[in-house]
Amino acid sequence: APMAPFDLIIFGGTGDLALRKLLPALFHRYVDGQIVAGTRIFGLARDAQSDEAYRGRVREALQQVLLEDPRAPAALDAFLGLLHYRRLDLSAEAGWAELAAELADEARARVFYLAVGPALFGSVGERLRAAGLAGANTRVVVEKPIGHDLASAVAINDALGQVFDERQIYRIDHYLGKETVQNLIALRFGNALFEPLWKAEHIDHVQITVAETVGLERRAGYYDGSGALRDMVQNHLLQLLCLVAMEPPASLAADAIRDEKLKVLRALRPIENGSAAQLTVRGQYRAGAVEGRPVPGYLEELGRNDSRTETFVALKAEVRNWRWSGVPFYLRTGKRLAERMSEIVVNFRRVPHSIFDGLGDSAALAPNQLVIRLQPDEGVKLWLMNKVPGPGGLRLRRVPMDLSFAETFGGRQPEAYERLLMDVVRGNPMLFMRRDEVEAAWAWIDPIRAAWEKSGDAPKPYTAGSWGPSAAVALIERDGRTWHEDA
Ligand code: BG6
Repeated sequence: APMAPFDLIIFGGTGDLALRKLLPALFHRYVDGQIVAGTRIFGLARDAQSDEAYRGRVREALQQVLLEDPRAPAALDAFLGLLHYRRLDLSAEAGWAELAAELADEARARVFYLAVGPALFGSVGERLRAAGLAGANTRVVVEKPIGHDLASAVAINDALGQVFDERQIYRIDHYLGKETVQNLIALRFGNALFEPLWKAEHIDHVQITVAETVGLERRAGYYDGSGALRDMVQNHLLQLLCLVAMEPPASLAADAIRDEKLKVLRALRPIENGSAAQLTVRGQYRAGAVEGRPVPGYLEELGRNDSRTETFVALKAEVRNWRWSGVPFYLRTGKRLAERMSEIVVNFRRVPHSIFDGLGDSAALAPNQLVIRLQPDEGVKLWLMNKVPGPGGLRLRRVPMDLSFAETFGGRQPEAYERLLMDVVRGNPMLFMRRDEVEAAWAWIDPIRAAWEKSGDAPKPYTAGSWGPSAAVALIERDGRTWHEDA
């Protein structure tokens, strides 16, 4: 449905996030008629630039959308007309009063997107307040990283909390905006079928994989100071784990869901000095080939040879509650892996007794698996044992019931930011992280990091284009299990 005109102000309006993600997402929403005339989108940055020059830059950034949607070219000029560029040096006094004058319409939703480093969140908040721009119709959006550990996250949240109410603050984890991730909620709570089985009694273990083929991209400065544990596990992978493991919320109300996710985070068994070596693996890629293309190693890409930053993490987590007691959650994520592939695999227990023994190949009854493919080739597969047709007796084979989203629903999968940005304008925080969630996630991550540092071990090398260090395979095989392969 069309949304009442609003004002969206992007700090960091010429940055990578704005040009690669936010503006294309907004353009899609415009083409679909959800964003209407009268809406204003301000790109803010430090250098002097005319509206026209800015629109020219954005026009280039929208090329992909123009190719994807045949309706887009006709809508381009009108969309660009919603855009304005304003020069603003975030560290200076000048310019805020002018901004406030432009945004004086209190009746509109006003969204400030802080696409700038977290070190600036507090001071930008202060300046907004001083300019009278922090009122009830204001919402602020902040991106990860929300800190690099619990203490810094608390400091950032405190700084934001000085100026804004929690309900005005939208902390983005863009994984929550992915269609397939939202579908986890539909799958679990829109079907009566799964919930009775969704527990330790019937589930042997869960795997969550977020594999990427990209390397450092242009983010060496940020990434080398972060590493995969902070960059991916603290947020995206733990959020996925929460959606799989949480109790049924009483409703779709934002806090009903966030309360349940928080309980999962707080129930995670701590991984500390004594157990980190057993329960975690970290790796760093060496030169290799990804999808047939030779790529340099992490240190070469970085141009330094002394970094111990991990580009891969595998770990075994456990949720200590009645539902999940004894069920391992194996998580892994890495850069420069064999393929781009994210999935959640729920592995059910074996049948309690096989009546097929002695029937040749069918003796090995494979346990059922529910494979939720997050990207690409979005879909859900349920692997079942089936009789192979033929007169030759009961021969069984493992086959999938296969639901492909593209085949079933057709069309384009909207990008995460489309949904998330519209939710902010609408004032729906369901798919955003609450302060206590972010902090609970850090509280679990910090001891892992500390244990790694204490051990003094270097990350294990792996060849770019592989599935990570062999220790990650050993981590799960020690338990008599294997990482899922789509076959
Ligand atoms: C970001 C991380 O949050 O997510 C990146 O900072 C990572 O390192 C990206 O590449 C992955 O997102 P997606 O949507 O491509 O799976």
